[in-house]
Amino acid sequence: MKTTFDVNKIRKDFPLIDGQPLAYLDNSATSQKPVQVLAAVEQFYREQNANPFRGLYELSNIATNAYEEARSLCAEFIGAKDSCEVIFTRNASESLNLLAYSLGRGLTAADEIISTVAEHHSNMLPWQHTARAIGATVRYLHPDREGNFSLEEFKSLLSSKTKIVAMTQMSNVFGRAIDLKPFIDAAHEAGAVFVADASQSIAHMPVNVQELDVDFLAFSGHKMLAPMGIGVLYGKAKLLEKMPPFLTGGEMIEYVTLEDTTYAPLPHKFEAGTVNAGGAVGLGAAIRYLNAMDRTAALAHEDALTARAIDALMQIPHVNILGAKDAADHHGIVTFTIDGVHPHDVAAILAEADIAVRAGHHCTQPLHQYLEIPSTTRASLMFYNTFDEIDRFADAVSRIRSLMGYND
Ligand SMILES: Cc1ncc(COP(=O)(O)O)c(C=O)c1O
Repeated sequence: MKTTFDVNKIRKDFPLIDGQPLAYLDNSATSQKPVQVLAAVEQFYREQNANPFRGLYELSNIATNAYEEARSLCAEFIGAKDSCEVIFTRNASESLNLLAYSLGRGLTAADEIISTVAEHHSNMLPWQHTARAIGATVRYLHPDREGNFSLEEFKSLLSSKTKIVAMTQMSNVFGRAIDLKPFIDAAHEAGAVFVADASQSIAHMPVNVQELDVDFLAFSGHKMLAPMGIGVLYGKAKLLEKMPPFLTGGEMIEYVTLEDTTYAPLPHKFEAGTVNAGGAVGLGAAIRYLNAMDRTAALAHEDALTARAIDALMQIPHVNILGAKDAADHHGIVTFTIDGVHPHDVAAILAEADIAVRAGHHCTQPLHQYLEIPSTTRASLMFYNTFDEIDRFADAVSRIRSLMGYND
């Protein structure tokens, strides 16, 4: 597929990979950061640094404004109605733990949570942990071999006991974009709230919380060009308002006595302690960067890279690709096995060839158990990758079996 997207120009923004020998194909783990993000973080600490909300002096107001501007950018990016619906956390894992803890306080032993076998541990263990503490039940929806979920199976799990549904919008193993809307509508009909894990989808497709009518949505900044240590929890204000806080301490209060506490309004009720203002500013800069680029062309380039990788790998004997047959359903994620070769050997051989991929269970052990595959290798792409990198990757994969001593 031809696009007008100029990847060589874009790569100039990414000093760690531009002109470097390393083909960085581990973007699902974390993305690289453009100079615009690095500059914004540096500028915050050089020119704006003070503890937000705490000072009555000018510099503290500047820091507060920088932090809140990032929140507004984020709210706009995901189509939230109000920026108070955006809570800054450390990462998607913390966002999901916050939800499991806070929503879990309203559950009883008779209640049920529905999740899926394909979840990242970060959207599985918090629910498992909460359910165990309360005596509630977690029921699991199963993906098919292409990474799809059946709405019929989902409806058969739903009942008046279902209080929470927690489901990924894009598996970090399959890369398929799940059309969550019918699942969200069905969950609402049953009276449950819907939590979407957008950790992988956020950088690879447009996400709009109001169009989805999703109740909660979690993601990490570091997978979408922002620094590590800043994450987002979106929640509908009317639900967040009713929920108890997760972490307590400074900044999240209205009034404290020795006997009792009243909490600050949204979003501060959920942001205890000194915030990661530099990280939030970096996330704001990442969103500005994504907004300024031709995102449709960037995503088309990503799709074209994915198609090139999948087409090439499909030609290599003994290589098995997980998930959809159609490259358009992979969104930059190419997870595979090579018959007779351990994924760690695959990744080590690729590392020798200056190609960074990931091997293991990708924090999805139950999914690997369900698929009866102990572990896999994953190449994950971003718009700044090149066809040349994909060709090098495919060429290196094609030589792995013979390097391991196989003749066919
Ligand atoms: C689908 C999915 N959910 C959640 C997470 C957790 O993200 P983090 O480690 O940034 O909290 C990841 C990270 O790989 C992921 O891929």
